[in-house]
Amino acid sequence: MASQPDRDTPHLRNLWYFALPGAKLKRAKMTDTVLLGEPILLARDSQGQPFAIRNICPHRGIPLTHGRFDGAEVECGYHGWRFNGEGRCTAIPSLTEDQKLDVNRIKVRRYPCREVQGNIWVFFGDEDRDTGYPPEVPDIGDQKPKLVETQVFACEVDHAVVGLMDPAHGPYVHAAWWWRSRRSMHEKAKTFAPAPLGFQMVRHKPSSNSAGYKVLGGEISTEITFKLPGVRVEHIRAGQHVLCNLTAVTPTGEGTTLVNHAIYWTQPWLTPLTPVFRRFAKTFLGQDRVMVTKQQEGLRYNPNLMLINDADTQAKWYYRLKKEWQRCQTEGGDFVNPVKETVLRWRS
Ligand code: FES
Ligand SMILES: [Fe+2]
Repeated sequence: MASQPDRDTPHLRNLWYFALPGAKLKRAKMTDTVLLGEPILLARDSQGQPFAIRNICPHRGIPLTHGRFDGAEVECGYHGWRFNGEGRCTAIPSLTEDQKLDVNRIKVRRYPCREVQGNIWVFFGDEDRDTGYPPEVPDIGDQKPKLVETQVFACEVDHAVVGLMDPAHGPYVHAAWWWRSRRSMHEKAKTFAPAPLGFQMVRHKPSSNSAGYKVLGGEISTEITFKLPGVRVEHIRAGQHVLCNLTAVTPTGEGTTLVNHAIYWTQPWLTPLTPVFRRFAKTFLGQDRVMVTKQQEGLRYNPNLMLINDADTQAKWYYRLKKEWQRCQTEGGDFVNPVKETVLRWRS
């Protein structure tokens, strides 16, 4: 059975999005980005707290990142208006003593911003509909990631997400002796269950064609969870230890998507291998990025696309989850997870 993916659905609101690896934002520094089509100034104050405000000066519209940040307030580079981390204006230098303008009433939009397990997340939506917390990786406490690989994909967010959860591209896109190849392809059956705002490939022993897992040592099992808006957590148990891959997809501007891949582990002996893991992450993500770039050459002609059983069932769930989230946001009511427990079978 084939079906046509939904096109052009708006970005999901009232959710937390991965903005930046925390290590990329030093104390008393600011940086500019575009997330969900909105210009954002991300900064870390001198106490170490990150914040996010709209990167447009309300006076004449210049991006505030062209100004200065002293670790507490941002000063616009054009006329020196100052804004604090709440986005509130604190000073307009051109005002004379007797000119009574309540500068505090001038604001730039502030976005809820949190740093969790070493990554900075921003909430997009109505603050009073904030459903809680950015996604967390289980069993690693407040550890920071050992490494984060960031790449920009030249595609809409849906293609990046669907590409990440696609089980059939591995032997073609990521073929490698230590991972998998066409010759090692075999039939697989995996049990899936609904999970909060998503679904989960329930804990199982990894495929026999994934030699890469062996370096972890101990009895190995893995569980993969996907959650809206586009966050995948692979939780690998290896004996007493844990290795987790967090992949988060965030739409940026027109037709581009930010993909962040963070790796955490508790095995101390893996730490000297960090450069090797970094290389693998770069290669892996790069292979996906190259593929979606090539895909754009075809998508330009707006072809009909297919989602087939069972290899594309996770992609179908993603579109259904999105639709249900949208319904909830517009009509209200509880989110009803459309995923039912099931076994999916494919060859890879
Ligand atoms: S444009 Fe920012 S202070 Fe005038
Ligand atoms: Fe991939």
